[in-house]
Amino acid sequence: MVFGPGKIDALGELAGELGARRALVVTDPGIVAAGHAERGMAALRRAGIETVMFDAVGENPTTAHVDTGLALAKRHSPEILVGIGGGSSMDCAKGINFLYSGGGRMQDYWGIGKAIKPMLPMIAVPTTAGTGSETQSFALISDAETHVKMACGDRKASFRVAILDPVLTVSQPARVTALTGVDALAHALETYVTKTRTPLSLSFSREAWLLLAENFGRVLDDPADLEARSAMQLGASFAGLAIENSMLGATHALANPLTAHYGIVHGQAIGLMLPHVIRFNGARFGAWYHDLLEGTGGTNGLARFVATLVHKAGLPSKLAECGVERTKLPQLAADAAKQWTSQFNPRAVDVPDLLGLYEEAF
Ligand SMILES: [Fe+2]
Repeated sequence: MVFGPGKIDALGELAGELGARRALVVTDPGIVAAGHAERGMAALRRAGIETVMFDAVGENPTTAHVDTGLALAKRHSPEILVGIGGGSSMDCAKGINFLYSGGGRMQDYWGIGKAIKPMLPMIAVPTTAGTGSETQSFALISDAETHVKMACGDRKASFRVAILDPVLTVSQPARVTALTGVDALAHALETYVTKTRTPLSLSFSREAWLLLAENFGRVLDDPADLEARSAMQLGASFAGLAIENSMLGATHALANPLTAHYGIVHGQAIGLMLPHVIRFNGARFGAWYHDLLEGTGGTNGLARFVATLVHKAGLPSKLAECGVERTKLPQLAADAAKQWTSQFNPRAVDVPDLLGLYEEAF
C-alpha cells in the first residue's frame, strides 16, 4: 500500500519496479472525464512504459466488459494491468487478467483458487473509498446473460501494489461517496462478526471501523475534507484486508440478489439490509458488536478501555489511593500549567481545566 496525496504520480515508477514495459489501464468514462486516467497514463509514459487504455468498464462489470478488455489486451500484450477507478474498474482488471493469463471463460474462475497459471502483476489506483477491491483477491463479475454475480477469487489475482491517493476520491459525486462509504462500513462490520474471523482479520476490521465510523459523517458534510477523505480511503482498504482474512456475511448475501434482479447498486442494497442483519445477528452476538463499538464509543469507551488495562496491571487509578491530599490540588494545577508539555495538548488547558481533571481523578 502506497498512501498519500499525489501518489498517483508514482504509478510509472512502481510499474517499472515490477518489470513492466507495456501496460493496459482499465478504467471507466467517469474517471477519464475526471482526468484521473490521463494522469495515471502520463505517469506510466514518463517511466517509459507503453500504455493503452480500456475505458469502457460499467457499473457492476459483466463478462461482456471483461471480454472487450480482453480483446484489447490480446492486441497489446501488456506486462502489467492497472485498474484506475472504483471497484468496477479494479474487478474488471482482475477479470481480464484471469482470462488473459489462464484462458477459458469467466465462469471457469467462479469460486476460489481456480487460476492454475501465474497471472500478470497488477496495480490498483482506487478513486472511491468503498469496495476494498484493491486489497483483496476477489473479482465480482456478473454473467452478461443470467446477471448472476460471480465472485471469482484467487490469491494470484491480488494487486501487487495499491496506490491510495486520497485526492482522487475528492472528485467522486456525493452519491458515490455515500454508497461506497456505506459499503466500506458494512465490510468492517460484517467481517468483524464472521465465523471465520481471526485475530488478524479483527485487527483490520477494528481499524477500518475506527477510521470509517469517525470520518464518514465528515466527508458527507464536507466533501473537500482531505484528512477525512484519507481516513476513509485507508479504512476502506483495511476493510478489504479484513474481507481477505475473514470473508463477509449475510448483508452481502442479501444484497447481491437485489443487484442482480433489480439493478439496485451495491451500496444501496447493502444500506437496505445492513441494519436488519445487525439486529438479527445482534440477538445472538450482540457482545461482538458491542466490543467493536467500544472502540469508537468516543472517548468514554476508549477511556474505559485504558482504565481497564490500568486496573488489570494492578495499578491504582485514583489520586487518593496514592496519598495525594485534596487541599493540594490547586497548587498542583498551578504547577501543571507551567509545564512545557501542556502547550502541546490539542485542547488548550488553563489552570481551572487542569484542576478539574485532577478532581475527576481524585
Ligand atoms: Fe460490499
